[in-house]
Amino acid sequence: MKLLALTLAAAAAIPAVADGLPQFGKDPIKDIVKAMTLEEKVNFIIGANREMELPPPGAPGMPKRSGDQSNISGTSQPSDATAEGAESVADEAVTAFTKGRVKGAAGETLGIERLGIPVTILADGPAGVRIDPVDVNGFMTYGTAFPTGTTLAASWDRDLVKKLTTAIGEEAREYGVDVLLAPGINVHRSPLCGRNYEYYSEDPYLIGEIATAYINGVQSNNVGVSLKHFAVNNQETYRNGIDARVTDRALREIYLRGFEKAVKQAHPWTIMTSYNKINGTQASEAEWLIEGILRNEWGFDGYVMTDWWAEENGARQMLAGNDLIEPGTQRQFDEVLNAVKSGFLPEEVLDRNIERILGVVARTNAAKGYAYTSHPDLKAHAQLLRESAPEGMVLLENREETLPLGKGKKIALFGNSSYDVYVGGSGSGNVNRAYKISPDQGLTEAGYKLDKDLNKVYSKYIKEERAKRAADNFWTVNVIPELAIDDAAIEKAAKNCDVAVLTIGRMAGEGGDRTLEKGDWSLTDLERHHLNKIADAFHKQGKKLIVILNMGGVIDMADWKDTPDAILHAWLPGQEAGRSIADVLSGRVNPSGKLPMTFAKRYEDYGSAPYFPYNKDNNAIADYTDDIFVGYRHFDRAGIEPLYPFGYGKSYTTFKYSDLKVTPTADGYSVAVKVTNTGRRSGKETVQLYVKAPGKTLPKPEKELKGFAKTQLLKPGESQTLVMNVPASDLASWSTATRSWQTEKGTYRFTAAESSATGAGISADVEVK
Ligand code: BGC
Repeated sequence: MKLLALTLAAAAAIPAVADGLPQFGKDPIKDIVKAMTLEEKVNFIIGANREMELPPPGAPGMPKRSGDQSNISGTSQPSDATAEGAESVADEAVTAFTKGRVKGAAGETLGIERLGIPVTILADGPAGVRIDPVDVNGFMTYGTAFPTGTTLAASWDRDLVKKLTTAIGEEAREYGVDVLLAPGINVHRSPLCGRNYEYYSEDPYLIGEIATAYINGVQSNNVGVSLKHFAVNNQETYRNGIDARVTDRALREIYLRGFEKAVKQAHPWTIMTSYNKINGTQASEAEWLIEGILRNEWGFDGYVMTDWWAEENGARQMLAGNDLIEPGTQRQFDEVLNAVKSGFLPEEVLDRNIERILGVVARTNAAKGYAYTSHPDLKAHAQLLRESAPEGMVLLENREETLPLGKGKKIALFGNSSYDVYVGGSGSGNVNRAYKISPDQGLTEAGYKLDKDLNKVYSKYIKEERAKRAADNFWTVNVIPELAIDDAAIEKAAKNCDVAVLTIGRMAGEGGDRTLEKGDWSLTDLERHHLNKIADAFHKQGKKLIVILNMGGVIDMADWKDTPDAILHAWLPGQEAGRSIADVLSGRVNPSGKLPMTFAKRYEDYGSAPYFPYNKDNNAIADYTDDIFVGYRHFDRAGIEPLYPFGYGKSYTTFKYSDLKVTPTADGYSVAVKVTNTGRRSGKETVQLYVKAPGKTLPKPEKELKGFAKTQLLKPGESQTLVMNVPASDLASWSTATRSWQTEKGTYRFTAAESSATGAGISADVEVK
């Protein structure tokens, strides 16, 4: 069904289809490349989406645009609407490609009809397929907004992630998308990174495992992924130029580790390099990274693309092994062509890069002529995500078994997000979904009665405020100021209702980092007042307050976490948010999520805090002096007690661990542990395996996550033995002296624990000789 594109660039010089020309899919790729003209080659390594709308100038954290892009249309009109450069060969080609595009897809690879090369489509993103909704025979091509990255990671459930991403891949496949620009797996070095919601965790092992499951799910549809952003892209502040200054060891053990695992275990079809520099070199121009580590050491065999408009020098990107430049500009075309003509860029390098791209194109559904339907089963996917999102929700507090709520309770529902929930973040991780369900609707459907007065005032306020604003878009998800509820109304609700639920929401996303201001990192005075007042009023009546956190990451909560009776972290859980939240509050689902990052008592407690480029004058440098001590590794070393440790999460039931057994295997260790449900409700438990190395020859973290496993739903009294495999190579550290992985000999302590606060876990010592 996908149209083959016409290269007008080629058509100007060469007959449309010449007899005897090699044909893609039939003849060897080398012969196809040989038959390409130099202009075709240069066109090919530059994305074919050159008329794409540029981000608005001055969008936070965006690259400074060079004036020489003026021949790129500033709107999504076809490029022939642009006066300057309209006659250029490349622009003419682009005009032709617009016909075969999936509307709203971020990028394409070029089709060349005379050689039988199909266009392939690249579309975001991590939480679902981001394309424009268009009417195809009465069916609107919405993407399902799936749970965001932190929600997936918080499930600690490889099978679940694979199931969800199989559905994302199915949507991509049925909408004619060949490569999904996901997953994003940069390390949560700081809680302030604006894109943390898309990413997974502060721990590279968890990142690598969730990414592996994600990639396996998507690629099971014969849709490729683009694992991003490679690498060390841990802030949005000045993201296009910032230089991440990182040690070799931290690079290997923390920032590249998740990528390494995912590449070796799941074989992503493509990789996206990041905007930033690493130790002075633009990531997309870092040959040591792309050719050296990614391909030669890890054996990556797909193609590498830039992030969008990540431009320094196209020729240097080609030399570094960054095969494809996205979405492509006229300037880059000229630059690469001139570099070949001047001899700076050998044509063989272009050939090599094109062969790699074509190698992946050959695998795509486009190349195989898959007849996509434009009609995926959105209903089934919505049901799947409703059932799945609760698996990642984290019960932070639950005093006196406040939760689950009994049936038929009357709820006083407070907070804007209770009526207008955030289901995802902003930027390319956003999804053009058909609808979203907020907690008011979810709780009503679950049989709860909502306080009518509150319902009315919030619903009216949100509706009016929304009407005043433009619709949400790529860069902006509207944040409506919190509605002030007066004390009398709170008192009244406390008398009339059985329980209060207050949702606290935060929005963040691409192009900017979060701030330490009230309203972002901490509560506003109004939020604080509501929290205290609602708690007082309800407690006075012997009733409880439940707080729901609706955000992609961490918030400052040390001095209020004991005010409510229960706290549920619901993250940005996708378009069925309200139903998923209601399922947890009602007890239909027992929450089994655990934190994929540390919650600190104070922002200053994070290892990155003194170095994060936030609010620094000289923000061109991101100083990674915290080295390998990211997240819990830092809290352990500094002896700082976190508010909630990495890996923490409660359940409506309790579990006991026993019978820990570590058995050497051919290539490492097999660790078995028995988990028994000792409580009164069915539930699932994630066991985490931490390993403490001898640490005599090299400073080592106090402990590191080396395995995890989740039980099935265990009935009260029921047990399951979980098995975790630790490859011996996972015990090694990167030695900067020898530039290799070294495993220290001695006694290693293996601890199976409920969280990184391993004190209550069970341990066994293992001698490594
Ligand atoms: C983002 C990428 C995304 C690309 C295409 C960039 O701004 O950093 O993550 O895939 O745009 O939309």
